[in-house]
This record gives sequence, C-alpha cells and structure tokens, in this order.
Amino acid sequence: MEIQKRSNKRKLWLAIIFLLGAAIILAACGSAQIPTPTPIVDLPIVPSPTPVSLVSFKELWQSSPHADEKAEAFTHWDAEDPQEIPVTCARCHSRTGFLDFLGVDGTTVGVVDNPAKVSTTITCYTCHNEATYTLDSVTFPSGKRIGGLGPEARCMTCHQGRASTSTVNIAIVKAGLTNADTPSADLAFVNSHSISGATPFGTEVQGAYEYYGKSYKGRSVRGDDFFTCIRCHNQHSLQVKIETCDDCHTFDGVDVKNIRVNTTDFDGDGNTAEGISFEIEQIHADLYAAIQAYARNVVGVPIVFDPGTHPYFFTDTNNNDLADPEEINADNKYSNWTPRLLQAAYNYNYVSHDPGAFAHNSIYIIQVLYDSLLDIGGNTSGMTRP
Ligand code: HEC
Ligand code: HEC
Ligand code: HEC
Ligand code: HEC
Ligand code: HEC
Repeated sequence: MEIQKRSNKRKLWLAIIFLLGAAIILAACGSAQIPTPTPIVDLPIVPSPTPVSLVSFKELWQSSPHADEKAEAFTHWDAEDPQEIPVTCARCHSRTGFLDFLGVDGTTVGVVDNPAKVSTTITCYTCHNEATYTLDSVTFPSGKRIGGLGPEARCMTCHQGRASTSTVNIAIVKAGLTNADTPSADLAFVNSHSISGATPFGTEVQGAYEYYGKSYKGRSVRGDDFFTCIRCHNQHSLQVKIETCDDCHTFDGVDVKNIRVNTTDFDGDGNTAEGISFEIEQIHADLYAAIQAYARNVVGVPIVFDPGTHPYFFTDTNNNDLADPEEINADNKYSNWTPRLLQAAYNYNYVSHDPGAFAHNSIYIIQVLYDSLLDIGGNTSGMTRP
C-alpha cells in the first residue's frame, strides 16, 4: 500500500518534470531566430556579409585595361587587309583567339587554329568558361611547363611573354655568329613582349636572358609562400591591392615602389632606404648608357631606344644619344646587332616591358641586369650582385 502510494507520487513527479522539460524545449524553439538543421552534406561555408553582386564585378572589369576596346592591344589589326588578327597574335589579343587556344570552340587544345576577328576584348567568358575552370598549367616560351597553378594559370597564358634565353641563343646560332662582337644583318632584335607573368618564376622559365655559367633566382617566394597574380592584383580591375601590402611591409602606404626588404645596396649609390624599385631603375639606366657606349665604340653604329614603338631599338642617325621623332620608325630599326649587344638589349627591353618587375621578382631582375651590364663593358664597381 505504502509502496503503491510512493510509486504513484514518483509517477506524478516524473510527469511534472517531463511537462516542464517539454515546455522549456518548446519555449527555446519558439524563441530561436534561426533553426539549425542537421547538415546532410558538407557544403563550403562562404562568409558573405553582403550579397555577392555581379554588377560590382562588371564595374571593376569595365574599369580595367582588359575592357578597353580602344586600346592599341585590341585595335592594332583594325587596318589590316584582310581585317583579322593573325594566329601568332590572336591567343592574347582577342576573346575568340583565346577560346580557340583553349579549344572551347571545338578546335585543337593548346594552339590557335584560325585568325581571330578584330575588335574583341577580354570579357567575362574569356576567363570564365568550361576550359578555364580546369586550366592549371602553362607552357612558357622556353618550353618549360609549370603545373599546379590555380585560377591565375589563365593570366600567365597571356602574360607569359614571347621569348626566353633559348630564343636569343637560337637566333645567334641561326645567324652563324661565333664571335660575340661581330655585327650581322642576319641577326634581328628579339622582343620578349609583355612578360610580367614569367618574371615571378625566374630561372624556372628563363624569361630573361641568362648568361652562360651564372646562377639565377627561381620562383619569387615569400618564406614558403608563392604569391599568385590575384594575391596582389584584383582579378577584375587588375589594380594592385595596395591596402594588402602593409600586412607585411612598412612603407608610406601610397606608392608600392617604396617597398624594400633587402638591405644590400645593389646599385652602389649609398642609399639603402629607397624602395627596391629604385635600385632596379638605377642599374637599368646604367645598362642603357652602357648599351649606347658599346654600340658607338665597338659596333661603330650608335643606338637609341623608344619603349613605345616596336621594334624599340633604332639607329641614332644624328648621333646625339636621343631618340628623336624622325629616328623612331620601323625603316630605321637597328640592324647591326652583335650577339653581345642583342643579349643586353633583350634584358633592357624585358625590364622596360615589366613595370612590376621589382615586385614580381626583384632579385632575379637585379641579377640579369647586373650580368648584362658587366658583359657589355659597363661600370659595376660599387654594385653588388645578389
Ligand atoms: C602570349 C601572349 C601574346 C601574344 C602571342 C602576343 N601578344 Fe601582344 N601583348 C600581350 C600582352 C599581355 C600585352 C599587354 C601589355 C601590357 O600592357 O602590359 C600585349 C601588348 C601588345 C601591344 C600594345 C602595345 C605594347 O607594345 O605594349 C601590341 C601593339 C601588341 N601586343 C602586338 C602584338 C602582335 C603584333 C602580336 C603578334 C605578332 C602579339 N602582340 C602577340 C600578349 C601577347
Ligand atoms: C582576366 C580574367 C577575368 C575576367 C575578364 C573576368 N574574371 Fe571573374 N574571376 C577571375 C578570376 C581569376 C577569379 C578568381 C578565381 C575564380 O573564382 O575562378 C574570378 C572570380 C569571379 C567570381 C567569383 C567571386 C569570387 O570573388 O570568387 C565571379 C562571380 C566573377 N569572377 C564574375 C566575373 C564577371 C561577371 C566578369 C565580367 C564582367 C568577370 N568575372 C571577368 C578572372 C576573370
Ligand atoms: C586573353 C589574354 C589575357 C588574359 C587571360 C589576361 N590578360 Fe591581362 N592583359 C591582356 C592584354 C592584351 C592586356 C592589354 C590591354 C590594354 O592595353 O588595354 C592586358 C592588360 C593587363 C594589365 C594592365 C597592363 C597595363 O598596361 O596597365 C594587367 C595588370 C593584367 N592584364 C593582369 C592580368 C591578370 C592578373 C590576369 C588574370 C586574372 C590577366 N591579366 C589575364 C591579356 C590577357
Ligand atoms: C607581390 C605582388 C605582385 C604579384 C604576385 C604580381 N604582381 Fe603584377 N604588379 C605588381 C606591382 C606592384 C606592379 C606595378 C604596378 C604599378 O606600379 O602600378 C605590377 C605590374 C604588373 C603589370 C604591368 C601593369 C602596368 O602598369 O603596365 C602586369 C601586366 C602584371 N603586373 C601582371 C601580373 C601577373 C600576370 C602576375 C602573376 C603571374 C602578377 N602580376 C603578379 C605586383 C604584383
Ligand atoms: C604575407 C606577407 C606579405 C604581403 C601581404 C606582401 N608581401 Fe611583399 N614580400 C614579403 C616578403 C617576406 C618578401 C621578401 C621575399 C624575399 O626576398 O625572400 C617580400 C618582398 C617584396 C618585394 C621585394 C623587396 C626587395 O627588397 O627585394 C616587393 C617589391 C614586394 N614584396 C611588394 C609587395 C606588394 C606590392 C604587396 C601588396 C600587393 C606585397 N608585397 C604584399 C611578404 C609580403
């Protein structure tokens, strides 16, 4: 009897506890703002404080040189007859040429099969298509293939340049020249073209002219970290993301040219506070002076350089060291190349065509400039080769 009573009491208590518990759970559920369902699959969590807007990507892209339909890089062939971009140029200078190279148009992968139509720019689909999603390797002009690249493989497919150490060596061999100081009309200037995408890899892809027997810096790494193009450039506006640099660098925050890490006075001017870009600028300028002195004194035909006009080096007909307007035309292109002059001029032009060289691979660039200067008889006293 006593036992029966107690057990009834216990049942009552249990019922009360159960009801209370249920009420608390219900209250909790009612007050929760976001129910948390059990995840069925592991979806990537994308932190997105503001909704991703395609419009802003479009605006960024529209502000970029890739969208500049009036640029020389997209209009250069407008007056050609027939009006088309030849296969040798189409990959990098047109939407259709790039899609042809990737094989998206059904043609062979890795080559441009047909001339491209003029007046296309580098649009969203050029970079975002079924082929670019999986593209992760690039073959450089040296023949070296670099794999394991991420989305920036597409950048290097176009920004890899058009020549390398071996292109220069082959040109010299083909001209049958065995003496470094013999000029020959059979030797033409070799143009690296726009080559910013090769510089970060240094000697791995040999984009610059590398002198026999010297050793060169490879990939430009920050510790163990190799920076991709889009770590520093916004992939749509192409602007350098300057606000990210002071995570690691102390500088004015305004001009990336003032960044410096290396403490060696490479150019020998006594200033180790200036940005590394100014060390490079000085050696680059010294190399131009040495190239001019060599052309005048050794070859006997003076030379001038104009960065804006292909093929960049011209005969200094009035012998005043200046690139005068009447000298800057293809008919007056420099045509007394010796092997030594070509090697140095190749590197001079290379650096002129990579305005970001100081950030892309400062050490590699100082090495090739220093070696060029030394080889062509310039004054390297006080300078240090890294
Ligand atoms: C491997 C890719 C690639 C190929 C092939 C290529 N170019 Fe370019 N070219 C570029 C890039 C990238 C630029 C943009 C340079 C910059 O602004 O940094 C450029 C720029 C130019 C410019 C703008 C002015 C200048 O000199 O910077 C002209 C003109 C030009 N290229 C002509 C040609 C011609 C002609 C051919 C074919 C004989 C050709 N390119 C082949 C990648 C290429
Ligand atoms: C020069 C090549 C290039 C062009 C042109 C380009 N994109 Fe991109 N885009 C990239 C790269 C590289 C990424 C980053 C890697 C990725 O997500 O594939 C990217 C990322 C994106 C993303 C993903 C968002 C993110 O931040 O990860 C969207 C959306 C996008 N692009 C839209 C566009 C649109 C729209 C256009 C045209 C207005 C465009 N892109 C033009 C190269 C390009
Ligand atoms: C289909 C070829 C192609 C691809 C892919 C490409 N570019 Fe370009 N890029 C060009 C050409 C051509 C120009 C020159 C456009 C002009 O002069 O307006 C250029 C211009 C630029 C410039 C400006 C150069 C200047 O003179 O101001 C930068 C920076 C750049 N690209 C970076 C990138 C990055 C980063 C990527 C990858 C996200 C990329 N490019 C992908 C062909 C390409
Ligand atoms: C460490 C940061 C960094 C990385 C990584 C980087 N760049 Fe740059 N890039 C720069 C800076 C800084 C400049 C100089 C821009 C300036 O002075 O406005 C530059 C300039 C350029 C230019 C010339 C722009 C012009 O004004 O003519 C091109 C083209 C370019 N980069 C392409 C690339 C490509 C392609 C890659 C990847 C292979 C790459 N960059 C990787 C920082 C970087
Ligand atoms: C995560 C840290 C980090 C960030 C972010 C970073 N850098 Fe660097 N950077 C380094 C390191 C480390 C080195 C030295 C690499 C070496 O020589 O071993 C370096 C070297 C350089 C150099 C060559 C300096 C010299 O004296 O030779 C330049 C130029 C440069 N960075 C520019 C930039 C720019 C431009 C940005 C922003 C777009 C940037 N860096 C962002 C870590 C960083």
